[in-house]
Amino acid sequence: MRVPLLDLSGQYRVLAGTIRTQLDEVLASQHFILGPKIAAFEEAIRNYCGSPNAIGVSSGTDAFLAILMALDIGPGDAVITSAYSFFATGGCIARVGATPVFVDIDPDTYNISTTALERYLVEKCRWGEDGSLREPRGNIVRAIVPVHLYGLCCDMDAIQRISERFQLPVIEDAAQAIGAEYPSGGASTKAGAMGECGYFSFYPTKNLGAAGDAGMVICRDNAFAERLRSCRQHGMEQRYYHNFIGGNFRLDEMQAAILGAKLPFLDGWSAARRGVAEVYREEFRRLGLTDRLALPVEPYRDRGLKNHHIYHQFVIRTSRRDALREHLTAREIGTAIYYPLGLHEQKCFAYLCHQAGDFPETERAARETLALPIYPELRPDAQRYVAESIAEFFEQSR
Ligand SMILES: Cc1ncc(COP(=O)(O)O)c(C=O)c1O
Repeated sequence: MRVPLLDLSGQYRVLAGTIRTQLDEVLASQHFILGPKIAAFEEAIRNYCGSPNAIGVSSGTDAFLAILMALDIGPGDAVITSAYSFFATGGCIARVGATPVFVDIDPDTYNISTTALERYLVEKCRWGEDGSLREPRGNIVRAIVPVHLYGLCCDMDAIQRISERFQLPVIEDAAQAIGAEYPSGGASTKAGAMGECGYFSFYPTKNLGAAGDAGMVICRDNAFAERLRSCRQHGMEQRYYHNFIGGNFRLDEMQAAILGAKLPFLDGWSAARRGVAEVYREEFRRLGLTDRLALPVEPYRDRGLKNHHIYHQFVIRTSRRDALREHLTAREIGTAIYYPLGLHEQKCFAYLCHQAGDFPETERAARETLALPIYPELRPDAQRYVAESIAEFFEQSR
């Protein structure tokens, strides 16, 4: 049996008619840039996320870049984020000329360790005479960027407390977590809507995927939203008058039309992914694999939330990851490693002078984690085949 890591064709078959109608409407209107489909999709995201502002942009990467540029973050500044994320999280910080500061992860959730974050701020950073917080190289710490990896929200209560203590705004990297909820008080808040701002990626493989690149920023403050709107058009406020430097970060009307058609299905897809995750758990239990593999944790499961985890990825861990992956590849089972290196280990960040062992949990996760196939249409028989192939691997290598 062949089990791909991801198969989007089932989803498209169901929605093909709706999506084509949407695209036909855009083509008939010939309104390709910042048209009504974008306005409608932004409104839908505002309502879905419970955020007063949503600004459609060209990708998740450009969303973060636009945020950093709109905040005027650049040389002499530092931004703190997780050492274990997709490259864009660290890359954008460096691209605006600021210094990325990495913090190790929690080994169970793979999200930023709030203990390590607080320790870094307390032990390594100092308040300057001008009231700014400076990291050891002298750069001013400007923001904290928690990444809700694999579709699970970070420990936002702790992050909010740290953000208040050190007066640092929180920019949520919710690229993998649209719709994921976090228990706050007796209620729930959605990923991206907890910090000063947050951003999503609609890369085709995401739970809500475009037919190409697309992204979105959500934010609380109306004035900041206006600045982001001009940032996505080269810092233009009045036509051809540029008050600051931005970029061409606009969301495409065609992509907005497709995403708008898909959004009503998102919660159903995320629920189906949770169902897939449950089947994996049952299979692993049945096959006696739970002491050989670490499975994803669900810290908010019993907190009355709809989307306590959206399972953008189902990631297991074993110290024999590479051999297991080889075994599964031979059985035509798609897997992926998100990510094989910590950000501090990337060659392009050598100038930060990190050493092996600086972020041990990140480095261990990079050696041990493996993402298994997960998508709403994945059938239980395919999952059984994946689980039995994993059991076979451990059986053979006993
Ligand atoms: C955690 C994280 N941050 C940022 C991004 C960047 O988004 P995009 O690929 O849309 O530029 C991604 C996309 O994969 C991501 O997973």
